[in-house]
Amino acid sequence: MDKFKIERSEPLCGRVHISGAKNSCLPQMAAALLTEGTVRLENTPDLVDVRTMTQVLENLGVVVERAVDGALELDPSQARRVTAPYELVRRMRASYYVMGPLLARHGQAEMSLPGGCAIGQRPIDLHLKGLAALGAEISTSEGFVHLRAPGGLRGARIDLAGEHGTSAGATINVMMAASLAEGRTVLTSAAREPEVEDVAVMLNAMGASITGGGEGVTEIEGVRHLSGITHRVIPDRIEAGTFAVAAAITGGDVVISDCNPAHLTAVLELLQQIGVDLEQGRKTLLVRSHAPLRPFQLETKPYPGFPTDMQAQFCALATCCHGTSTIVESIFENRAMHAPELARLGADIEVHGRTITVRGPCAMTSAPVMASDLRASAALVLAGLVAAGGCLVNRIYHLDRGYENLESKLVRLGAGILRISE
Ligand code: EPZ
Repeated sequence: MDKFKIERSEPLCGRVHISGAKNSCLPQMAAALLTEGTVRLENTPDLVDVRTMTQVLENLGVVVERAVDGALELDPSQARRVTAPYELVRRMRASYYVMGPLLARHGQAEMSLPGGCAIGQRPIDLHLKGLAALGAEISTSEGFVHLRAPGGLRGARIDLAGEHGTSAGATINVMMAASLAEGRTVLTSAAREPEVEDVAVMLNAMGASITGGGEGVTEIEGVRHLSGITHRVIPDRIEAGTFAVAAAITGGDVVISDCNPAHLTAVLELLQQIGVDLEQGRKTLLVRSHAPLRPFQLETKPYPGFPTDMQAQFCALATCCHGTSTIVESIFENRAMHAPELARLGADIEVHGRTITVRGPCAMTSAPVMASDLRASAALVLAGLVAAGGCLVNRIYHLDRGYENLESKLVRLGAGILRISE
């Protein structure tokens, strides 16, 4: 398993290009199942999760190729299979995005239950609630969920509120299925993440009739047919936020390009409160961190609240703030595995229930640490940049799932980071 050897970094300086959004690209790849036409996705990141989704789709009969310009070209015209097998789903929970499209196009889907992951149980009850409301007959047996809609799907009024607010995945899955249902679907308590809106934009370009995509109430007028299209994936807001924290934690001066600062409002407002100077353009973000960093309080919430996917990175940042910071994780029940690893690097960090407390500034020192999930891994890399003697981050395959060329992008900003392949 690969590991990163990270040296304590000088202030990061320079320009970094942000890749396309993983959490947009994955459902948009699955949306190709809704049509016979060829779908071309531009600005797609080259990630392990994108390769896994490629395997899931190829297993269903979709032909997936990466064009010379880097775009993904998907030809679903011969796709007839309807099963997402355990060996693929267990590697990537987002395989569940094939459920809605398969059900809508073929009236059937067989999906291995995704199981939990490091950050929580990750149930799919809201996905199944929405698909059942559209008329799917659903049963589970032998670790699979079986979905049938022999007579097709029919529009319905569906509320997607869950105990943690709402669900981005369920909103997207149900929106894709409803696009080919008969009649109107109204989703209330729908997720508002930019990735949800981006999927709605793509579906409408394919011929769907969706209003309010990415808003709390989304209406879908079912159509009979969707066409192939070319769609450009939006920039990855979490990658952009991660690099903003990298600039902040090292006292750097970084231009983040090809991003969309409007998708990061809660994160950028907090960085400014902490004492980081920001200049926002339409597609660029300039991050200057030359003043002492102030402690902060944050609670993760559904978009447009502070994103849970930035929580671990801000725990790393808190180790360099002058005072006590409090971080509350309200979306996932177990998203604090980075805390004991940050403690190994010298962080004064405690976890009580969903509240993480960091007393900074911490004298961060070198130690080998273990990555546990995608964003926890990013937090350990960020902490390694400010640890005396740097650090060794093990199991960085977690990072490869969601960050494209992370080490080369950091090296171009002046970081000392080396991948050791075993
Ligand atoms: C998406 O996961 C993202 N993944 C996650 O990013 C992100 O953390 C999450 O949204 C929240 O923003 C992808 O898009 C591939 P949810 P998703 O359904 O859709 C509960 C990363 O690091 N819930 O919005 O699975 C759930 O347990 C990953 O890139 C139900 O109860 O998240 C959680 O507490 C990590 N029932 C809350 O809702 C359901 O049926 C939000 O989950 C579904 C979810």
